[in-house]
Amino acid sequence: MSARPIVIDTDPGVDDALALMLAAASPEVDVRGIIAVAGNVGIDQTAANAAALADLLELACPVGRGAAGPLWRRDTENAAHVHGNNGLGGYELPRSSRELIPGVPLLADLLGGSDEPITVVTIGPLTDIALLINEHADTARQIERLIVMGGGTLDVPGNASAAAEFNFYADPDAAARVFAFDVPITMVGLNATHQALVGPDDLPQLWASGGRIAHLVEHILEDYERAGYGSGGAMEMHDPLAMAIAIDPTLVTTAALHVDIENVGRITAGMAVVDHRHRPGSPPNTDVVMQVDVPRFRALMDTRLAELDRSVG
Ligand code: BDR
Ligand code: CA
Repeated sequence: MSARPIVIDTDPGVDDALALMLAAASPEVDVRGIIAVAGNVGIDQTAANAAALADLLELACPVGRGAAGPLWRRDTENAAHVHGNNGLGGYELPRSSRELIPGVPLLADLLGGSDEPITVVTIGPLTDIALLINEHADTARQIERLIVMGGGTLDVPGNASAAAEFNFYADPDAAARVFAFDVPITMVGLNATHQALVGPDDLPQLWASGGRIAHLVEHILEDYERAGYGSGGAMEMHDPLAMAIAIDPTLVTTAALHVDIENVGRITAGMAVVDHRHRPGSPPNTDVVMQVDVPRFRALMDTRLAELDRSVG
């Protein structure tokens, strides 16, 4: 089977970095481009991190600099308390000399210029995708599928607020725009990513390899725990789970449901409202990830990161 062409919109971000590693290591996907968006930290830093990670991972694709903040709201707070001021838990990568291309035009060119439809994996706020829809609606309609890390079912709705997951909280209007647009969406929410815990005990092949990737992953896991996040030394693999689904959709089960994003509420802005009622007026618009095959996901992370570690030396 030929590789699935993907474009990644990301705000690296420690778990974004792990997701990029997984993509770079997986022959099932062909990374056509990486667009950085502001989110976990500011755009200068996420763009620099995206380019530095592309260098480290030997990805030849173009790297874009996307939106510097939400569609129209004043900036919401970032997540430097989770990801460190440099977005990589303080880990310093060599600065890239790559040219950074304007992000939304790059996204439009990649989608419009491709012979095959492209899957877009979004692991940051949805601002770039909303801008694409606003400015290039016909091109946006060509997207094969959006695999969106964000939101959560109503039992696990939020981490940035009681009601909202970070990527939707950071730009609720963009998230609402995207979910109202007619393109297939897989929503990888907190209800799923909280199942996808990976800690040091789950990565024996990577530690045995012991190279540069192993060193960076070790740093990420330690810093995440030091910052007070995760569970028992293991990290919720929010963004890597979204990438894993692009690589192997059979890792999860989904339910076709109607999802809308709250962008008006005083204390609920960015909340994914997942409707389980199956009412005719609210037809399914989203495949919501419900269950994760955790042993297979952990095995994928370990095997692929170890292979990557050996290949980048
Ligand atoms: C999401 O928010 C960010 O902090 C992570 O990188 C991930 O994309 C999890 O809520
Ligand atoms: Ca992210």
